[in-house]
Parts: sequence; C-alpha cells; structure tokens
Amino acid sequence: MKILVTGGAGYIGSHTLLQLLRERHDVLVYDNYSNSSPEALSRVKQLANADFEICEGDIQDAYKLCEAFGSFRPEAVIHFAGLKAVGESNERPLEYYAQNVSGSIELLKAMQRHDCRRIVFSSSATVYGEAKYLPYDEQHPLQPTNPYGRTKYFIEEIIRDWAASWKDASAVLLRYFNPVGADASGRIGEDPNGIPNNLVPYISQVAVGRLKYLNVFGADYATRDGTGERDYIHVEDLARAHLAAIDFSATATGCEAINVGTGHGATVLEMVKAFEHASGRAVPYKIGPRRAGDVARSLAAVDKAERLLGWKAKLDVADMCRTTWNWQSTNPNGYTQK
Ligand code: NAD
Ligand code: WQD
Repeated sequence: MKILVTGGAGYIGSHTLLQLLRERHDVLVYDNYSNSSPEALSRVKQLANADFEICEGDIQDAYKLCEAFGSFRPEAVIHFAGLKAVGESNERPLEYYAQNVSGSIELLKAMQRHDCRRIVFSSSATVYGEAKYLPYDEQHPLQPTNPYGRTKYFIEEIIRDWAASWKDASAVLLRYFNPVGADASGRIGEDPNGIPNNLVPYISQVAVGRLKYLNVFGADYATRDGTGERDYIHVEDLARAHLAAIDFSATATGCEAINVGTGHGATVLEMVKAFEHASGRAVPYKIGPRRAGDVARSLAAVDKAERLLGWKAKLDVADMCRTTWNWQSTNPNGYTQK
C-alpha cells in the first residue's frame, strides 16, 4: 500500500518505517528533520534493503504537503510529526499548538484534497492525566496536565470530527505509553538532543559514561519501592502496532482510540536494575525531589488493542534494556559520529 509517513526520520517513525518496508509497503517520508537526522533514513534503507521516497518539509507548509500528496498519491497516512517535550511545551506553548495542532489540520486538509481517507495518529497516554483508576482504559476521562498533552487531546478531537464528517474515513488514535528500546541491529535508536528528559535514554547515557549519575525524581510515591511506575513498551512492538492499525483501518470506518502498552509496570529502580543487568555497567543514582507534573503510576489496559488490532506486546523490560544498550554502546554519540 502507498503510505505517507510524517516524522518518519524520528525515533518511532524510523522503526515503523523499517517494518513497513519489510512488509513491502510503498512509502514516502515527510519530515523537516527538526528533531532527527537524514542518517536515520539512510540506515533504514540499508537495513531494509529497500528504497522509499523522502520529502523534506514541514507539516505546516500547505504548499509542500500538496506537492507531496499530488505526486505520491498515498492511500493512508501515519502521522508521527510533532514536538514532544513536556517541559518545553510549558515554556513555548504557542509553538506546540502551531506545529502539532495547526500542522495536523494542514495535513488533514491535504488528505481531504487528495482523497486520502485513512490515518493512524501518534497520540499519548499523557492525554489521560491524573489517574482516576488504573489501568487506564480508553474510556478513562481525558485531562492532560500540560500544553504538549493538550495538543494531543485537541488533535484527537479534530481527527474524530474529521472522520465523522467524511464517508468511509478511518482514523486510529494510538495512545502510546512509554516507548523505549531500539532495533535489534543496533543501527537505529533514540537519539535525543542535549540532556535526555526521559528515563531510559538518561540511564543509558549514564551507563555509557556521558552522564555521571541518574537523578531519581522522588522515592515517596505509593508504589512498590516508592519510585514512579510506568508501562514501558518496546519500540519494535509499538512499530508493529502501526502496521496492525493500518490493516484495521482498511476494514473499519470511523475513529478509534487504542492504548499501546504491555499492561505491566516497572518502577524507576527496577529499570535501573534491569539496565545494569543488560549492560554489565553500574548505573549510579541519587534520590532527589519529585519532578513537577509526574504521576505515581501509569499502566495501560491492553484488551482493546488485542480485540481490534489483534496486537499484543511480545517484548519485555529485559529486551528493552538489552536493545537500548546495544544501540547506545555501538553509537555512543547517536547519529553524530564525533
Ligand atoms: P521524534 O522527535 O524522534 O520524531 C518526530 C519526527 O517528526 C522527527 O523526525 C522530527 O524531525 C519530525 N517533525 C517534528 N515537527 C515536524 C514538522 N512540523 N513537520 C515535519 N516534521 C516534523 O519523536 P518520537 O519519539 O519518534 O515521537 C513520534 C510521535 O509520537 C510524536 O508525535 C510524539 O508526540 C508521539 N509520542 C511519543 C512518545 C515518546 O515517548 N517518544 C510517547 C507518546 C507519543
Ligand atoms: C519515567 C519515570 C520519572 C527521568 C513522558 C511524557 C509522556 C510520553 C512519554 C510523549 C518517571 C522518572 C525520569 C529522570 C527519573 N511522551 N525519571 N529521572 O514522564 O512517564 O512520560 O514520556 O508523549 O507524555 O510525559 O516518562 O521517561 O520522563 O519518566 O527518575 O531523569 O522515570 O519521574 O517516574 P514519563 P519519563
């Protein structure tokens, strides 16, 4: 199938692209490289031993989008492009609303203009906000607590209205929990700019010697060991969920929100231990204060994904740590060879 992938050079996009190519889909990647590198795309090309089209462009650029849709004529879109840093979204909310929300509207307009009726969108468990109960199922109230989360919430609502307004349109909103890990080859992985905000990239940079120690954000939560508990999902499983969602969208119309997690949680200290085991390196840490905005626990209800997509996570925390370490230790500076 012909699939246009926005943000395909990014962390989750590149892993999904690899699987799409292996399944012989015809792909155009649309990315402005604001948080990624063309090197990731070259590596995917080598790994898949398959070619694909690339259009360097911004999703806010209606003209560029129109060109890409006009020449490629996609049957479906997987929409990863957007800004994703929670802290930055508090400092620069308008940039987040412009890129994420306005950019998504331009994308939907281009789809409509070119009669493309299927979309899979990267949403986030962050749309749920403070847990009223756990695990979060897709009916849980949506109360995001920061501008980034609100962009995901607004885009979900916009896509829902768009899908309802157009006969035969089909939309799948995938609510990712905590994506981590890397492709087993160690050739592609997560390559954050500057000091990582997220736990696993931070731990892996401590293990490789780029950072001295991990700051554990709070050890007084109501969890097994007092540290925050999350539902980590391997990026390879997550990528597979997108292929399942694309297949599902061929058979269903309307709009479905679907959690993508494992249903199992790990605490910060459990992740540290698992990473030490996988890497054979010590990960020194210091317990510090809580990070503003963090919740104690986050866990996905996963039965809807299984029921609608026939998808279930296969990889566990040990696989996540092993593949992250393989990527980090063979590419200590990410895609930039220094
Ligand atoms: P990423 O930053 O690695 O990838 C995003 C890609 O989109 C990058 O290649 C970037 O250059 C591109 N991009 C950004 N703004 C763009 C624009 N205006 N026009 C064109 N391209 C643009 O992030 P990721 O971790 O791969 O996340 C992909 C998607 O999944 C994002 O929408 C993110 O919000 C969502 N998500 C991520 C996580 C996570 O923890 N990684 C969790 C839940 C949801
Ligand atoms: C995990 C746990 C921290 C860093 C974020 C976004 C969410 C989604 C996924 C995009 C928590 C603790 C972390 C550190 C620590 N992204 N931690 N020291 O906050 O669950 O989710 O990424 O949609 O929207 O909010 O992930 O990896 O930042 O934190 O102790 O240096 O690790 O307190 O308990 P989070 P995370």
